[in-house]
Amino acid sequence: MKSIFKRRSIRKFKSEPLQEEEISLLLKAAMAAPTANNLREWHFVVIDKRELLDELANVHPYAKMLKTATAAIAVCGDTVVQPTIGYVAVDCAAATQNILLAATKLKIGSVWLGVYPREQRMKDIASVLGLPDQIIPVSLIALGYPDEQKPANDNWFAEKIHFNKW
Ligand SMILES: Cc1cc2nc3c(=O)[nH]c(=O)nc-3n(C[C@H](O)[C@H](O)[C@H](O)COP(=O)(O)O)c2cc1C
Repeated sequence: MKSIFKRRSIRKFKSEPLQEEEISLLLKAAMAAPTANNLREWHFVVIDKRELLDELANVHPYAKMLKTATAAIAVCGDTVVQPTIGYVAVDCAAATQNILLAATKLKIGSVWLGVYPREQRMKDIASVLGLPDQIIPVSLIALGYPDEQKPANDNWFAEKIHFNKW
């Protein structure tokens, strides 16, 4: 519960690189997410090369923070393993959220960068990362040790809650 409420989008990062074991834990958290029909169609591209992070920052219109991020994970889905694209999107979204929560617990800053269903972003990111045709990028997550602090989330919207029928 603490990690759920503490998670905020962090867009300023320190220059110290993440540890390999931390990245592995984030990926393990991603793989603990549920998938429709248990197809596990996701793939994860871990990016830690400065020039690739910069290239991604240049092709994604709202991802300038990738220029200071020390790593990123592209959460991608195999559209042959799961041909229903809506399921690819929601399965990758669930994996993405698990990564954000695990990162929060590990005191790693993160922000979800939307890719699917923006066709141009999908095309550009697939090209930067050399994805095979059947693999689509669903989200990018910028990562690094945080260089900004944000208050915990305290959202509560009573008007969004409906008991039994609407
Ligand atoms: C599907 C999705 C796409 C997003 N895309 C971007 C993005 O391209 N760039 C960005 O800086 N933040 C992006 N965000 C982060 C949201 O802006 C952020 O979650 C929201 O403002 C709430 O702030 P919080 O995460 O600190 O609670 C995205 C979030 C989601 C769920």
